[in-house]
Parts: sequence; structure tokens; C-alpha cells
Amino acid sequence: MTHDFARVRGRSTSRLRGVVLTVAAGAVAIGAAITFSGTADAATTLGASAAASGRYFGTAVAAYKLSDATYLGILSREFTMVTPENEMKWDATEPSQNTFSYANADRIVAQAVSQGARVRGHALAWHQQQPGWAQSLSGTALRSAMLNHVTQVATHYRGQIYAWDVVNEAFADGGSGARRDSNLQQTGNDWIEAAFRAARAADPAAKLCYNDYNTDGQNAKSNAVYAMVQDFKTRGVPIDCVGFQSHFNSASPVPSDYQANLQRFAALGVEVQITELDIEGSGTAQADSYTRVTQACLNVAQCAGITVWGIRDTDSWRASGTPLLFDGSGNKKAAYTSTLNTLNGAGTSVPPTTTPPVTTPPTTPPVTTPPPSGGACSAALSANAWTGGFVITVKVTAGASAVSTWSVALTLPSGSALTNAWNAQATGSSGAVQFANVSYNGRIAAGGSTEFGFQGTGTPPTAVSGCTASLA
Ligand code: G3I
Repeated sequence: MTHDFARVRGRSTSRLRGVVLTVAAGAVAIGAAITFSGTADAATTLGASAAASGRYFGTAVAAYKLSDATYLGILSREFTMVTPENEMKWDATEPSQNTFSYANADRIVAQAVSQGARVRGHALAWHQQQPGWAQSLSGTALRSAMLNHVTQVATHYRGQIYAWDVVNEAFADGGSGARRDSNLQQTGNDWIEAAFRAARAADPAAKLCYNDYNTDGQNAKSNAVYAMVQDFKTRGVPIDCVGFQSHFNSASPVPSDYQANLQRFAALGVEVQITELDIEGSGTAQADSYTRVTQACLNVAQCAGITVWGIRDTDSWRASGTPLLFDGSGNKKAAYTSTLNTLNGAGTSVPPTTTPPVTTPPTTPPVTTPPPSGGACSAALSANAWTGGFVITVKVTAGASAVSTWSVALTLPSGSALTNAWNAQATGSSGAVQFANVSYNGRIAAGGSTEFGFQGTGTPPTAVSGCTASLA
């Protein structure tokens, strides 16, 4: 996947250059993937820090708040992507049929342009926030009106949108894996692909996303979205990205398989984007959750960026849960600091760059250590399975010494097959399989850990059979 560095504002790109050079020098000196703490050369805004790895950091914006100096100050200082919170929705842009109203959305786009940020368009087709006239239509009349809306709005903003949420929240909650029973769904099951084709025709340069909530971990709803994306890719329906809204609170915390879920979608050949992040809470617990989400995006190469759903807690659609990165006065919260530090690479393994590293043979022979006893490394497996398939996350932990390479062995149950792996190189696809580190995650500090994952069909393995590592 390519990230568009050129359109990131100048301050960010020069910061990017500095980080890359620092890493390259370090890689030559030690001849291996290295860990950088990001303290001395750390960027000081969310946007610049995200740009260091080619990503964006965005926020939802309300047009009527652009006259608030505190709000505008934080927006223009911190964010490199902007999503109109309500102003591009159907009720806002087409209040009467075929009469379009773009003033508020245009103000937000103009602000984004003036601060060198890009725009996520939200949302072309959705069962909510439809104008009254559309709610009263059905069948062919509604289908035609929806497609006309998609075409008109995407054409108005042609060339100005990084990614469109073409279709929003089209799947039902719960375990059915079914489409949501909306007026749009009742126009025919192919309404989603029809919307995507219309959007592509209107603005060929925009990335086209499907966006939803409660799809942040693996469950019946996300499996259904996954199957739709897979089907679209197979049949050539234009889709470029999947948005994971990521609205979290104590009843719906960050799922343990959040990263694995992003990764399995990325493996379908789409970009993944965190589109509406907010996490209710406060203090360290909230800060830690923001760290987990941010690190998950950084760990998935195809995760293009993170958008938070508002700037200050008081700007949030659920303000009482204080779910954002700035308090009501615009002060940075602990969650801001943890997010910034994570973006700046604290504890993140980065690959060596263009200069080939000097290879030093390990001085100590590889040691095989079956978990859970101590030794060079151990590996623990967690599984998320559904009927006929599974995703496994494996945590590899170094023993008392740092390691420079590692390999994990396990046996898949009879009839099961590996379909893809991430953050590891797999050998074999059934029976006994092995996973070796890739270039950027072989080195693990003493007592530290890294994660890789894989996906398969059939029933999941329940344990690893061994972890082998070379001491650093
Ligand atoms: O603008 C009117 C104002 O004139 C009126 O006085 C006031 C009285 O209620 O309502 C104002 O409009 C509200 C609008 O937000 C602007 O504040 C609407 O009633 C209210 O329904 C609307 O809520 C938005 C909600 O989507 C609608 O579904 C939230 O701001 C917005 O944050 C939220 O965003 C959604 C995403 O689009 C999709 N994913 C979930 C996310 C959170 O619900």
C-alpha cells in the first residue's frame, strides 16, 4: 500500500525525513532491526507523529464550531485528516430532492485545505440521517434517488476527498450476520455494490470505503462484512478500504483481537482505517486503551490512519463519557500523551532501511524452548474461531536475554489449513507449520514480546509446540 506523503503538510514531511535518517544510521551501526524510543527526535503533534510512519491522524469536525478559537487552534495544530461529522450526510446535502446544499461541508473542506489536511467524506448512503423525502420513498424510486445522491455529491467533491464512506452501517448487530433491514436494503441486496460503482464513476481518485461499528473484533457482524469485501474483490466491485468506527466504552471495550481483525481485512487487499475512535473513561485506563488502538494501527502496514470522533470531550456525541483526547477546556489529557508517545514509536520495532545491515552470525546456537518454561523464548496462542475458520494471535516473549531471530512451531488439526499470516513468514500450510520472524520483528528485548498472527480454515490449533530463538 502507498501512503501519500506528498500531500502531508511540510512540517510533517521534514519530521518524517529526520526519523528515517535516524533509523537508517542506527540500523547500519547494529546491523539489525532496532527499537527507537522516539524521545530525542519525537514529533510534538498527533499529525506529525503519525506522518513519521506515513499515516494520518484525523478528527471529526463540526462546521459551526470553526468559529471557536480554541477548537480551531487545536484542529489546525494537531490533525492531518478531517471528517465532516454531519455536514456531508444525505439530510445535510440534499434537503429537498435534487436540490443540493453544500455550504457547511464546503467550509470544512476549505478549512482542511487551508491547514494542509485531507478529507474523509462521510457518508454517501446510510439508513440514518436521510432527508424526510427519501424516507418516504421505496423500491426503484429510492434506489434511483440514492444513486443520484451518490453521483451528485461525489461529483461535487471530485478530487478533494481522500476516502469516501460510500456505505455506512449496512449490517445488523447480533449474531445473524445478516444485512440490516433498512429501506435501502429493501431496494435489493445489490444496493451496496451499486452505490460503490456509482461513487467510483463519479470520483475515480477517491478511495471507496465500507464503514461500520461493532466490527472492531471478529464476530458474526465483522465476519459478514469480511465475506462481502472478499466477494467484492473477487467480482471486481470497486472497494478500496474498510472503516472500523471503534466507539469503545466499558460495555464494549477494545477487543483483544482488534489488531488481528484489522490484519485479516488488510489481507483481503483493502486499506483499513480507524474512522470514528472514541473511548469512554479517564486517566491511565483510558490512556492505555488509546495506546492499544494506536499500536494496533501501527502494527498493520495497511492501516492508513486514525480519526478520532471529535476534538474535546465536550465536542463528543457522548460527552458525558469524556471519550476524547482533549478536555473541555482544550487541555491535553493522559490519553493524548499516550497516543502521541505511541505514534512516536515508543517500544516499536522498525525495519532497517536501504543500507543493507551487516549480518553477524549468532554467537550462541539457537535454543528450543517449549513453553511455558524459561529459556530463549516462549510463545502463547490465543484463538478466535467461528464455524469453519479461525484467526490466531501468537505472542512471542524473549527469555532473560534479548533475541535476534525466532521461530514458532505448531501443528494444525487434521483437515485445517493455513490461508495467510502476518508479521511472520509461514512454512507449510497444513499439519506441522512453522512461523519465522520477518525483517522488522526478529529482535526482541530481554523479557519483551512481539505478536504475529495467522488465519485458517477448519478448526483452530490450541497450543504451540515450540519456540526457537537465536540470542542477540
Ligand atoms: O443541528 C441540529 C440543531 O439545529 C438542533 O437544535 C439540535 C437539537 O437536537 O439538533 C442538531 O442536530 C443534531 C446533530 O447531531 C448536530 O449536533 C442531531 O439532532 C443529531 O441527531 C446529530 O447526531 C449525530 C449522529 O451521528 C446522528 O446519527 C452526531 O452529531 C454524530 O456524531 C453521529 O455520528 C455517527 C456517525 O455519523 C456514524 N457512526 C456513529 C456516529 C455516532 O453516533
